[in-house]
Amino acid sequence: MASKLQLFLFLSLSCAILQKTTAGDPDILTDFIPPPISFGPLGGSYFKFTGMRTLVGAPFPTTFKVTKAAMAEFPALNGQSVSYAVLQFPSNTVNPPHTHPRASELLFVLMGSLDVGFVDTTNKLFTQKLQQGDIFVFPKGLVHFQFNSDAKSPALAVSAFGSANAGTVSVPNSVFNSTICDEVLAKSFKTDIATIQKIKLGLAGK
Ligand SMILES: *[C@@H]1O[C@H](CO)[C@@H](O)[C@H](O)[C@H]1NC(C)=O
Repeated sequence: MASKLQLFLFLSLSCAILQKTTAGDPDILTDFIPPPISFGPLGGSYFKFTGMRTLVGAPFPTTFKVTKAAMAEFPALNGQSVSYAVLQFPSNTVNPPHTHPRASELLFVLMGSLDVGFVDTTNKLFTQKLQQGDIFVFPKGLVHFQFNSDAKSPALAVSAFGSANAGTVSVPNSVFNSTICDEVLAKSFKTDIATIQKIKLGLAGK
């Protein structure tokens, strides 16, 4: 009996250690995941992403804009546990509260300033004012936001993610723009259906 228990404890402990060491995407068993045959001969170009070139010298957007270099845009990232996003904030714009279910985010402010924050699982808010040159980490899976509160200057940041496909769950969008019924939302937010419908209309752009 004792040895069975020991074996069980040993197995659960090793599982726990294994889990600890797999904080990124699952490891692949090849150097990289090659493109389909139709891609043609495999060379260095497969590992280059040029999708950010459009940002160089382009006018700054007038609304908050995210440009991604993740698995969908850049297939060579599949299996590599990394991706990027470029975040452009005109003055007084916000990246609304959201989570990335599969990755931590490391945000680097290249230009301007940002008010950032995340909420942990005890509902404690952690905020900071970031200036040009600062880096901030948003722990994996936690709700977070960024806000350029400056009335005049735009802000530019690059975020790195510990997943090739971090995923984004927008809180306003997933709650109020996903056809969850008004009654469920009214009860959940302790308000009336008219208030819920008003919020829904705003997100639907009506
Ligand atoms: C709400 O959903 C519609 C339809 O999917 C989409 O076009 C729109 O962009 C969404 N609104 C926001 C604020 O994401």
